[in-house]
Amino acid sequence: MLTADAESEGLDRDFWQQEAQQLHWQHPFEQVVEFVESGPRRRWFSEGKTNLCFNALDRHLALRADRCAIIHRDFCGETHQLSYRELWQQVNALSSLMTEWGIRQGDRVLIALPMTPLAAVAMLACARLGAIHVVVYSSITSEALAQRIQACTPALFLHHSDSRGRESLPTIPSTAENMRVVDTASAAYVQQLALHMDRHVPCVWLSSSEPSHILFTSGTSGVPKGIVRDTGGYAVALLASLRHLFHLADDEVFFTSADVGWVTGHSYGIYAPLLAGLTTVMCESSAVNAPGQNWWHMVAELGITRMLTIAGAIRLARRQGPPRASLTSLRTLYLAGEPLDESTETWVRDVMAVSCENHYWQTESGWPLLAGQGTKLSAVFSRSVEVINPLNGEASPEGETGMLIIKNTLGPGAMLTLWQDDTQHDQRYWLQHRGQWCYATHDCAIKQDSVIVIQGRMDDVINIGGKRLATAEVENALSGLPGMVEVVANRTPHPLLGEMVALFVVTEALTSTQQALLKQEIRKRLVERCGRHALPRRIHFRYQLPKTFSGKFLRRMLLD
Ligand code: PRX
Repeated sequence: MLTADAESEGLDRDFWQQEAQQLHWQHPFEQVVEFVESGPRRRWFSEGKTNLCFNALDRHLALRADRCAIIHRDFCGETHQLSYRELWQQVNALSSLMTEWGIRQGDRVLIALPMTPLAAVAMLACARLGAIHVVVYSSITSEALAQRIQACTPALFLHHSDSRGRESLPTIPSTAENMRVVDTASAAYVQQLALHMDRHVPCVWLSSSEPSHILFTSGTSGVPKGIVRDTGGYAVALLASLRHLFHLADDEVFFTSADVGWVTGHSYGIYAPLLAGLTTVMCESSAVNAPGQNWWHMVAELGITRMLTIAGAIRLARRQGPPRASLTSLRTLYLAGEPLDESTETWVRDVMAVSCENHYWQTESGWPLLAGQGTKLSAVFSRSVEVINPLNGEASPEGETGMLIIKNTLGPGAMLTLWQDDTQHDQRYWLQHRGQWCYATHDCAIKQDSVIVIQGRMDDVINIGGKRLATAEVENALSGLPGMVEVVANRTPHPLLGEMVALFVVTEALTSTQQALLKQEIRKRLVERCGRHALPRRIHFRYQLPKTFSGKFLRRMLLD
């Protein structure tokens, strides 16, 4: 049974009641937050009805129709702009076409598009119709794509067969049951869309806690988990974060470097800036848009005022020396997604001469949980956090490593549940601690003088330049390779990416030539099945691997 105190810890109902007024509600909400069946799941702003697309576009038309909504830096380095009115028109056209295709509220729409405004248009068209978007990284591997199709059974799959500088494109499955596959690079699509250009499609008003999207992310099981996010809570949280954490003014040009297939791309590449009526920069990754001088010239040319990226990108950029373009427009650089090292932070402050904030969060939380300068972080938005010993649940003494937990609630905008798996959601992420639900971040942290320092994942997930990859995913991908008896994937430090994969492989009796061939096969298989970021930094051949009595690999021993 939860006590009344426990129930309200880390939760400021009055604050969220106020923040929710920033949003247009077609029907007002009655309760700020409520428990679902006294378990760890929450519903935010229940009984309220709203629509993400209406809030991101329609309500800006009266005052900001001509304002630039998206600046698109294409893969050739050319710049294009789209006003709020133009974006609204394109979203309406696609919504109308999608309606003709039979897409309805609750249908899943899988989106694998390059970082062009079309990706934003597709997401917003789904939001308009109440369809659930499932955006994946546009150069996702064929394996990962097939897994996501199987998991979320989409009614529609939007992809773009023109590579636009992308290294590899997945094989498009043509046979998934009841799934319409549309190539947005095809003449047929362009012609069909043209017929819908002047249509206006009314927004479908959704209950606040109805899902807006699913995002797949890596977890220990090796099978990516579908993080399900709501509608109203997400919009309120993002707007509140821009006001109170990012302290944004009305004239901001916001550049989030992440692809829309990741949570940062969803939250701060698309939704947050558009909900606030600001300008967002969408940049297709290519040689001419790579971190470094290209970025700094882009900041100067586009007048970017805030930028959100990962520390690894700054480490890459730093190799090209001090910026050779004026960064005077840049008010703050936000770093999130991996541990921030002191030397990168110092470089941003001293060489870029830009203020730098470190944000800690997860795909699961949807927006920042902790924030601060350098590595010293504190909980934001009255969240209540603790570092505990995961073995006995007791608070870890100051200065001792434990697991970071968030008490009671992650706040609005966090995951509702896992796609079709409430049980895994409840059991994997939530524990009962002194009569209170606590969210297990699965990150190691130290508490010292009331600040938190994040040390990295405590589960078997490797963080490669901000991309999560489970050791089990790597091991599964390699299973059955001829000549290989056993394989264990582990993390190894990397100066630019933070971490990379290291492999420990037990083989049959192989000659050195056969071993060299096996290494090639391993690399090829990993790129095919997991993506380029899974390429191992090291492959060690071993006669045997250390295991527990129950046969579990001792990863920590291998790490040493
Ligand atoms: O281990 C933490 C690390 O990235 C994980 C979440 O990754 P993802 O789900 O891809 O979401 C990224 C959202 C920005 C966390 O469990 N992480 C994230 N931010 C930080 C971090 N580690 C240290 N410092 C951070 N600021």
